[in-house]
Amino acid sequence: MSLLSDLTAIVTAGFVAAGLDASFGAVQVSDRPDLGQFQCNGALSAARSAGRSPRDIARQVVTQIEGDHRLASVSIAGPGFINLTVTGRTLAGCMDAMAGDERLGVSPVEHPLKVIVDYAGPNVAKAMHVGHLRATIIGDTVARLFRFAGHDVLGDVHFGDWGLQMGMLIVATRRRRPDLAHFFDRSYEGPYEEPGALTLADLQEWYPEMARQVAEDEAVAAEARQATTDLQSGRPGYVALWEHFVRVSRASQERDFSDLGVEFDLWYGESTVRDLLRPLVDEALAGGIAVRSDGAVVIEVGRPEDKAEITPLVLETSHGAFLYGTTDVATIQMRVTELGAELILYVVDARQSYHLEQVFRAARRAGVSGRASMEHIGFGTMNAPDGTPFKTREGGVLRLGDLIEMVTDAAAARLKESDLAARYSGEERAVIARQVGIAALKFGDLVNNRTSNYVFDLRRFTALEGKTGPYLQMAAVRMDSILARADRQGLAPGAVLPPHHETETRLVLRLLQLPEAIDRALELRAPNHLAEFAYEVAADFSRFYEACHILTEPDPGLQASWLEMVRTTRRTLELLLDLLGIEVPARM
Ligand code: ARG
Repeated sequence: MSLLSDLTAIVTAGFVAAGLDASFGAVQVSDRPDLGQFQCNGALSAARSAGRSPRDIARQVVTQIEGDHRLASVSIAGPGFINLTVTGRTLAGCMDAMAGDERLGVSPVEHPLKVIVDYAGPNVAKAMHVGHLRATIIGDTVARLFRFAGHDVLGDVHFGDWGLQMGMLIVATRRRRPDLAHFFDRSYEGPYEEPGALTLADLQEWYPEMARQVAEDEAVAAEARQATTDLQSGRPGYVALWEHFVRVSRASQERDFSDLGVEFDLWYGESTVRDLLRPLVDEALAGGIAVRSDGAVVIEVGRPEDKAEITPLVLETSHGAFLYGTTDVATIQMRVTELGAELILYVVDARQSYHLEQVFRAARRAGVSGRASMEHIGFGTMNAPDGTPFKTREGGVLRLGDLIEMVTDAAAARLKESDLAARYSGEERAVIARQVGIAALKFGDLVNNRTSNYVFDLRRFTALEGKTGPYLQMAAVRMDSILARADRQGLAPGAVLPPHHETETRLVLRLLQLPEAIDRALELRAPNHLAEFAYEVAADFSRFYEACHILTEPDPGLQASWLEMVRTTRRTLELLLDLLGIEVPARM
């Protein structure tokens, strides 16, 4: 229950008593706070369907609800808007209920689902770049949000470890490392030692060169395809090499994720489902769902109503290799049958929407998705100030590890110029700079509508004022310090009183919208609603703090009430920052 839903219930009853449909009673926060705290626009739509004057209907509804003890005033404005203001006691009561609730008044969902969030998606032998950054940051928040809402969530990294790239790396190794020839010798029966001197740096260097050759030279492409097929059918020397590629890649990626404060429940890869691929394709063929086309096996996914053609998904190439999409379909099967998935969320670059649409349709046609729904949560790109995709100064793809270092340095410089944390030890300053840098990075991303592209601007992201991660961290630290000082003076939070000051009313009204903010973010899978709301909470708090001098307030009842406001604001911010994956420094 929330204040808004209570008010909606009151107004809905008014509409029903007036013989009108319940759906007209929706109450929202007012666009015109000067006229009332809340408004209902239902009389306008009701008038259209009933062929009556909206003001007439509004008057009828107002007569019904006027006497409610929770309402301080009800009025009609303009053509028939109903404006509502609630009593101070109602606000105080709602605040007390929020303060006393572990979940701050946010109810868990009624029907929890088994949700798999597929996010980050790094690949073997490729350093993660900024493209994976958004998937990681947004995916982490989506997973946290669904978990908080009460769903049973598993976050899966869906490691790219089974496609043609693996064959390319095997071919590159054969060319570059004659000393490893026994991995390629079919008559050699093992054992295979760890090719220790083959590092991630080697793989990263070889890969782009190989990719270029494959694109230009059909013979090299054929070789890479053959190596992929051989690996996929279990050739021991190739499997041993591949296991090594996977190990070194994963170790480096886990370091990046840990710097970002992101952890996965599952480190499954595309290869996790490798034993499901052959039977999947064979069954689809046997059932007439998949067909042979030019030697390949494909599954038709186009529908007559499609505006643009959607081509068939290739499950197996004419060379006998399984593709990215094949593992995606088999992964759906595994998630549904083994993990019990009911909802699968793919937090993946918007440029893959066509691919994912093919995959979802193929999975449904092949009957492997059961009753689960699959959803693509796409996002735009992070651009440089000139509007082109973000690159290093040298024009290369920026590695995630370097980016993290860059934001940490920028945060350290910002703290220094603002004379923050200056008295702390160098060690503590470094921890704070990292926390502030990551917050700047994450918030700078999450505050955007996820489908838009945005410009990466370190100066703006690390600002201590305005809509930034560091601003929210400062606000939280300030609240902590007020509470700690009060505690030292023997002062404790107490019952919330009706608001005394306009800034206080505003803060209360804001905090009480937490359930709606969470709902909206959840419904739309849109972290920016959480980021915006967190910012509004911090900004309203800062107005309240300027106007109401908490620690010097002589009235003990009022002071205790204000301290409870601080505590509940802090808890609200803590929840929101936690959902956004942002840590708050112990001090700044
Ligand atoms: N590894 C892929 C890439 O780097 C992303 C994986 C997305 N998830 C999926 N199930 N296809 O592009």
